Amino acid sequence: MNNASKSQKNEPFRYEQIASEVIRLIAQGTYRPGERIPSVRQMSTQQGVSISSVLQAYLQLENQGVIEARPQSGYYVRAPSAENYPEPEISSPSLDPNHVNLHDLMMMAMRDSTNASLIQLGAAMPNLELLPIERINRILASLARTAEPGAHSYELPPGLEELRVQIAKRALLSGCQFSPNEIVITSGGVEGIHLCLYAVCNPGDIVAIESPMYFGTLQLLEVHGLRALEIPTNPREGISLSALQFAIEHNPIKAVLTISNFNNPLGSCIPDEKKKDLVELLARYEIPLIDNDVSGEIYFSEKRPMVTKAFDQKGLVMLCSSFSKDISPSLRVGWVVPGRFKNKIEWLKFTTSAATARLPQMAIAQFLESGGYDHQLRRIRREYASNVALLSQAVTRAFPAGTRVTRPVGGFVLWVQLPENVDSLELYALSLKNNITITPGYLFSPTNHFSNFIRLNAAAWSYPIERAVRRLGELVFELAGT
Ligand SMILES: Cc1ncc(COP(=O)(O)O)c(C=O)c1O
Repeated sequence: MNNASKSQKNEPFRYEQIASEVIRLIAQGTYRPGERIPSVRQMSTQQGVSISSVLQAYLQLENQGVIEARPQSGYYVRAPSAENYPEPEISSPSLDPNHVNLHDLMMMAMRDSTNASLIQLGAAMPNLELLPIERINRILASLARTAEPGAHSYELPPGLEELRVQIAKRALLSGCQFSPNEIVITSGGVEGIHLCLYAVCNPGDIVAIESPMYFGTLQLLEVHGLRALEIPTNPREGISLSALQFAIEHNPIKAVLTISNFNNPLGSCIPDEKKKDLVELLARYEIPLIDNDVSGEIYFSEKRPMVTKAFDQKGLVMLCSSFSKDISPSLRVGWVVPGRFKNKIEWLKFTTSAATARLPQMAIAQFLESGGYDHQLRRIRREYASNVALLSQAVTRAFPAGTRVTRPVGGFVLWVQLPENVDSLELYALSLKNNITITPGYLFSPTNHFSNFIRLNAAAWSYPIERAVRRLGELVFELAGT
């Protein structure tokens, strides 16, 4: 295939593959800053490619600032500049509650996110290659062969007992002790949050949220006619408790919504001690906390962070989660531990959708029971930590000065603050013309105060993705006028 048809098909050239491989080796720590990488001749022999391909790859890496040539000596890894890139500062949203009106923008982004011909850096889709799809398929096939007719009856709330038992066992790892009877199975995490809002709020009520906040949740506020009160949020440690307390003292807040473990898009994690303070603060005012833990298992540190529910003395914390990020988004299985609102949630679940499909619940219960989940999670955590680092380094190399990038400690998205004058919707339109999707910052706030931010999905890493990030960088340069 000639070069022109390769680039049309978005396939990488040989030199790009080599360049990407070197980037991966550096990100994984095989070659450290200051160390020499294989010479052009060695690399050409190792990889079975021509000298000119390696030379071209090294030239590209030099231009990108990844390596430097030292006369008479060879090529060396340069100190990574990612460390020098500042993080976004704590957010400073409006002090007033606001209705949400994001549906048009959201539907546009949703449609583009399903277009397989685009390089998808927008939607927070897990990397399907890292999910235990074969195992789940085998379990489903065996269930389909052997399931009794009863497996096709309604699995009425609270949902399949075997699954609830497995969830209660795993909860111990996040510092929580609750019985299977305290859990209600839902159709994905989003349904859980929807039911919680339904249970504790009425149209017009005010819900305090982390800012920025995952747009799926903002959509729920819109659908319920609720007003969002955005609370300043630190990109590492989550919601500001002093700002939250101030907001509570000045507004009749009905509920607080957080993603305490790995906020989407920030990748922040509220430290365990601060989680305790958050739960105690809300307990003093008798305000329910809806905490979304869908990415809680995807941590990059040694230990799973606790969940806010672990500190709940009054039954006010409603813990929501799902298996969408680490087993399968398509099975649509999630769960809520709603504390004192259990009966209401069960009733609302029954009223809204009667039941969650039984066979997917059986498949996940079997998968959890068989012990494959931890192995699976270890792999996902390792890969996502590496891919987040690769993407953030690529952004650092490609984007202009004035860019800021988060340092996520879990999950798989990156939040990028662009130079002040770059509008993320303009960038969205330009990216699409270049067959790339991003998520514009507008979607993460009802008050547009993230107009110069974008969220990028770091779940996968590949040559086309690396090329797309470089192209995005060029577009940002263009819009920034630098
Ligand atoms: C923070 C957050 N919550 C909830 C969801 C949706 O979860 P589910 O697919 O289980 O409904 C997502 C998916 O992107 C998410 O990122």
